[in-house]
Amino acid sequence: MSFPISTFSRQVQNIKIFGKDFLADSFTNIPQSIIEKTNRILYKQKTHPLSLLKNKLITFLTFKDFQLFENFIPIVTPKSNFDDLLIPPAHISRTRTDSFFINSSHLLRTHTTAHYADILTQQHQGNFVIVGDVYRRDTVDKRHYPVFHQMDIVRFFPADSSDSFIVQSLQSDIVSLLNAVFGRPIDFRWTAAYFPFTEASLEIEIRHNNEWIELLGCGILRQEILSAGAGITNKRAYAFGLGLERLAMILLDIQDIRMFWSEDERFLGQYSDGMLKKFTPFSIFPQSWRDVSFWIKENSNFHPNDFYQLVREIGCDLIQDVSLVRFPFIIHFVD
Ligand code: PHE
Repeated sequence: MSFPISTFSRQVQNIKIFGKDFLADSFTNIPQSIIEKTNRILYKQKTHPLSLLKNKLITFLTFKDFQLFENFIPIVTPKSNFDDLLIPPAHISRTRTDSFFINSSHLLRTHTTAHYADILTQQHQGNFVIVGDVYRRDTVDKRHYPVFHQMDIVRFFPADSSDSFIVQSLQSDIVSLLNAVFGRPIDFRWTAAYFPFTEASLEIEIRHNNEWIELLGCGILRQEILSAGAGITNKRAYAFGLGLERLAMILLDIQDIRMFWSEDERFLGQYSDGMLKKFTPFSIFPQSWRDVSFWIKENSNFHPNDFYQLVREIGCDLIQDVSLVRFPFIIHFVD
């Protein structure tokens, strides 16, 4: 007997999020546990470390003339999450294995960049910052969680600004911001990157405990997004986007991303005075290892992310790591 893996995942038929009803269809893959996370809004809880970090980043931005957008709900369309950002039709993030779809016409945003079109088409032509929770199907380990938080920053320049001037401003704004947040000069390096919505795309990595950690992506916003998308022809802009958890984990010495979802006073209490300080760990569950093995039918469209999500459904946050071991045995059964 064989069961499709989705049999075990607690799926919902009629989906209610933010008071709106959606009908499930063949694209639906959003489990109840993720729907529940959309209510937490950690980045607005006054003394939550993610909210404190958000405030700190905002106060340290080198330019002060920007509008903050932090009230967009995380439900978006494939158009705003992908098409408007020139993300190609075959991009992996458009698939059910990588993103959480409410149905074929709505998904949970995979990045806060999904709101650029909303903002730009309102003829908003000033600098802006977006903060929000974002959702991705991913591996199970202490650095990944299906919900995390991002901040996107967009700064405008006059149309005649050169590429090199914009990139220099971008790099110096980012380094000044990070130096200010860390309270010391950071050890960093730039690497080339690719994002469909920026050109001259870059990533900054910072050295932490002798390891280079990728911290944020950035670049000059493609002119089509401003002109064809929003009718803005007299401006250019740079954009950068960073993950709040990644930065907070380094800054506060938090080892496990799941800690941010804790409602334990031993965690939240450490930040109740509104100060961002190094985290003092408290007792955790003793470690215990388990092996799980199963067969996958040849040519089935099984994706490891399906299994990871199942583990999250059943084990909640108690399962710290899942490592995938493939055995090269292929067994052919006679039908
Ligand atoms: N949206 C990108 C991501 O989630 C980050 C990014 C934002 C990159 C803005 C460039 C410009 O990875």
